[in-house]
Amino acid sequence: MDRQNCTEPGLRTPVYVVDENALRRNLEILAGVQQRTGCRILLAQKAFSMFRVYPLIGQYLAGATASGLFEAQLAYEEMPGKENHVFSPAFTPEEMARIVRICDHISFNSIAQLEAHRPAWQAAGVSVGLRVNPEHSTQEGHAIYDPCAPGSRLGIRRQDLPDTLPQGVEGLHFHTLCEQDAAPLVETFAAFEKSFGSYLPGLKWLNLGGGHHITRPGYDIAALEDLIRSIREKYDLAVYLEPGEAIALQAGTLITTVLDVVQAADMPVLILDTSAACHMPDVLEMPYRPPLYGAGLPGEKPCTCRLGSRTCLAGDVIGEYSFDVCPKVGDRLVFGDMAIYSMVKNNTFNGMPLPDIALRHPDGSCEVVRHFDYQDFKMRLS
Ligand SMILES: Cc1ncc(COP(=O)(O)O)c(C=O)c1O
Repeated sequence: MDRQNCTEPGLRTPVYVVDENALRRNLEILAGVQQRTGCRILLAQKAFSMFRVYPLIGQYLAGATASGLFEAQLAYEEMPGKENHVFSPAFTPEEMARIVRICDHISFNSIAQLEAHRPAWQAAGVSVGLRVNPEHSTQEGHAIYDPCAPGSRLGIRRQDLPDTLPQGVEGLHFHTLCEQDAAPLVETFAAFEKSFGSYLPGLKWLNLGGGHHITRPGYDIAALEDLIRSIREKYDLAVYLEPGEAIALQAGTLITTVLDVVQAADMPVLILDTSAACHMPDVLEMPYRPPLYGAGLPGEKPCTCRLGSRTCLAGDVIGEYSFDVCPKVGDRLVFGDMAIYSMVKNNTFNGMPLPDIALRHPDGSCEVVRHFDYQDFKMRLS
């Protein structure tokens, strides 16, 4: 498709621009952790499924992990020859028939699921594990992202496991973190080891899940590496990490255009061609305030505006930002850190167009790798 400069007005908005250099920087950090510890790092596709860059990711990481058949199929097609893992709270028999042909590792969320699919995975020789719940929360205030929150359906609690694991189980999996440093992982592993440590001798692998912000400046990589090395030395098994965010952290922007400026009772509101509800749902779900280049906190700069969308949802507001000069119709604004949990969560509520997806190459040129149009909206309906 067309190549142009990523800042050129000819680039249609809204558009996600993923930066290859930034991606490589993250991947080099992760490859370093693999090299120094012997662990294996997988791309959690739920966070970032821009398959155009899977060949690049595959140069650095051991493979990918999926939340179900479709992501597994994507990794199978676009990252061929690399490890392909999958975890889901439940699989249907039809899905499993395909999964055992394309995945090398499956983690089950219950013994009932493990047994229901035993004939399929056993015949195919796939390595299977169980997801467990260490029942140790290290997150505050985000129960929606905490698989150890009371009443969680994610992972088997120790009290629900027999003293000997079902025949054929080769690994254990836990995922409990969200955007966290190494210390909560060290703490969680200690809690996990206390409850589940007796299963580890004899297992082939242990998956420490995602939520590790390894590529964030200031992340304590040495502590992570010490932990991985100590697990490998003590139990002699393969250690997997499956971060999503860390792979494309700070590696993408979302460029939007101001379509109108309306005056609300308290301040001007910019009507943008992007939407929190459709293009960055985590802004409403988490909630969080995405970084906006050149803008400050409300009141910090002379002109404070609310940034809103053109959907009908009154709450489809991205936040309040201040500017040196009030933005006007036709201006472009650039949100930061928009590669992760953005395009994978998109929807076309109100018939909103999906943002294009572009790749900024190391020479600065911008390649629009995907343009969406009316057909993409229509094909999901009937
Ligand atoms: C099982 C599992 N693995 C990996 C991840 C990736 O987490 P993150 O993108 O926060 O690193 C998640 C996120 O929800 C998950 O549920």
